[in-house]
Amino acid sequence: MKSISSHGLLITFEGCDGGGKTTQLRRLAERLQQEHWPFLKLREPGGTDISEAIRAILLKKSAVSLFPETELLLFAASRAQLVREVMEPALQAGEIVLCDRFMDSTTVYQGVARCLSMESVQAINSLAIGAVKPHLTFVLDITPEVSRQRLLQRNLCGMDRMEEEDVAFYTAVREGYLRLAAENSDRMMVIDANQEESVIANLIWERVKMAWLAR
Ligand code: TYD
Repeated sequence: MKSISSHGLLITFEGCDGGGKTTQLRRLAERLQQEHWPFLKLREPGGTDISEAIRAILLKKSAVSLFPETELLLFAASRAQLVREVMEPALQAGEIVLCDRFMDSTTVYQGVARCLSMESVQAINSLAIGAVKPHLTFVLDITPEVSRQRLLQRNLCGMDRMEEEDVAFYTAVREGYLRLAAENSDRMMVIDANQEESVIANLIWERVKMAWLAR
């Protein structure tokens, strides 16, 4: 697929819940700010009024009756809005767009872990993103057991609907990411998330610097 921007850069952060994506995204944003490189920080689902409203439906604890197909379409709807309203204009303006989760989350969570047809997931993903494709994707890899532990520590007041899934679900998520990364090694980089936070931040920074200077 042809990328929409020849100047901007779309960088996505992926992995099991609790792997430290959000921390690393923040650290990269701080670094970009120091360097005065233009960037924008986004999260999925969310990032526009419509997408945030969809996020509330998706993560609400009481939404247990949400069917996997409904879930897939809602994640895609949130993304379709974010891509057109925010991402495309920023990439066309030459910015570095950092996104906490993107289409690979749908492939892995809805396609692999929820066992929806991969053909449908790919078709819907492709409709949602149009010509916008990540240039770089960092997969922060941790075991499902560590993921559970970190989530329990972080969410002392309770987990959201997705986080309440069991270890088998997160095992499928992890394996899904590792397989996807092996198939897309041109843009996806798996990082052992058990490493020191600053070591991971430096790895990411070096890779981003290379991509930005080579664009
Ligand atoms: P969030 O609180 O943003 O979690 P995290 O900090 O781990 O990103 O919740 C997003 C949840 O939604 C997370 O469990 C992953 C899930 N998700 C999907 O299942 N499919 C998707 O396409 C996306 C974007 C997220």
